[in-house]
Amino acid sequence: MRKEILFLKKYLRNPQTVGSVIPSSDFLAKAIFKSIKGLDQTTVMEIGAGTGAITKHIESLNPLLVEIDREFCALLQQNYPHLNIVNSCALEQLKKVTERTGLVVSIPLINNPFKTSFIPLLNHLYSNGLVSWCVIFTYGLKDPLEEVDFKRKARKHFVLQNFPPAHVWVYS
Ligand SMILES: C[S@@+](CC[C@H](N)C(=O)[O-])C[C@H]1O[C@@H](n2cnc3c(N)ncnc32)[C@H](O)[C@@H]1O
Repeated sequence: MRKEILFLKKYLRNPQTVGSVIPSSDFLAKAIFKSIKGLDQTTVMEIGAGTGAITKHIESLNPLLVEIDREFCALLQQNYPHLNIVNSCALEQLKKVTERTGLVVSIPLINNPFKTSFIPLLNHLYSNGLVSWCVIFTYGLKDPLEEVDFKRKARKHFVLQNFPPAHVWVYS
């Protein structure tokens, strides 16, 4: 099945968790990669990798991919056999972090119960030095991680060539 059709099918079944009707564009993925280049070199974890639309552009950073959906994971295994891929909720994987990590976050936070546990966990990992930076995209105007006490934050890019258009936020 084509990636786009699989993605749409997943969205229709679970809009809150999937968050958009099509995967991110190459333009958005490139903006994310560009944002990471200015940050500390750390282990990279991509949470909510989906069909790998962002992975394709950050692959050279050897990210650990975390994805909750089994079918998406199978697709990631097929396309990125050289990467470590975990089929689990990102919260479980984040609890296992033991070294300085940079996070690429694709999991939608708007109206998603995931956020309730994610924010305190991220605050804890950042204050302990285990998460050193975080890059996230959002379709809304609001700072998506305003409740986390990052020292630095910036809305680095606005990508019109994405559906929906997206803002890339960088925290460190
Ligand atoms: C907006 S899509 C992004 C997919 C891909 N990164 C992209 O940009 O096209 C969100 C992805 O997060 C995954 N996801 C949602 N909740 C999750 C969770 N708690 N743990 C891991 N993955 C999750 C969904 O299955 C979906 O693949």
